[in-house]
Amino acid sequence: MPSRLRWLGHAAMLLETDGQRILIDPFFTGNPAAVMKADEAQADFILVSHGHGDHIGDTIAIAQRTGATVVANYEISEWLAAKGVTKAHGQQHGGGFNHPFGRVKLTLAFHGSMLPDGANGGNPCGFLIYLKDGNKIYHAADTGLFGDMRLIGEEGIDLAVLPIGDNYTMGPDDALRAVKLIGPKKVAPIHFNTWPLIAQDAAAWAARVRKETQAEPIVWKPGDWLEV
Ligand code: NI
Ligand code: MN
Repeated sequence: MPSRLRWLGHAAMLLETDGQRILIDPFFTGNPAAVMKADEAQADFILVSHGHGDHIGDTIAIAQRTGATVVANYEISEWLAAKGVTKAHGQQHGGGFNHPFGRVKLTLAFHGSMLPDGANGGNPCGFLIYLKDGNKIYHAADTGLFGDMRLIGEEGIDLAVLPIGDNYTMGPDDALRAVKLIGPKKVAPIHFNTWPLIAQDAAAWAARVRKETQAEPIVWKPGDWLEV
């Protein structure tokens, strides 16, 4: 079965690959764009990009209910362990680890990472996910544009997931520049339209991507699936 990715609203996603379910930034409670409730989410692994509430979201409750292993930076993994999450795997930028579903390497992200209780959430990250079927996903999470996206692109990215909401992250213009640096086969936008502050016209952005790059832009809405 091919790997597939479902947008669950805002930055939350579900990746299904090699018979495993990987939730990314599972923010459901208080997320106006969420397509499910926290107690409906199933996961074998949970990836958390940074400490902000719209990303760490319902991680603790879902990890405790499902027994999923949480992958995050070291500081967040220690914070989760102190909150009662029994399986937390800490990594750090540039470091990769071969998880049962594939290899995950943490990438740079220019952003903040304070945890909801004010604790130090280390540095924010994106994820480079090397699937067992050979596909590579770059999930940028919350970040501004940075030139080293070119280095990430050198790995040969099949699918890039990029924020386009502006204000807190890259907006459409910088996200288009990011596509040019990364050179992915497909690109899917996230982190927009959750609130009026990050409202964007994703179809208009996709038209620019189609015109100015080689990438196939995905026009989707929360709840949609995408074959990687
Ligand atoms: Ni954030
Ligand atoms: Mn965010």
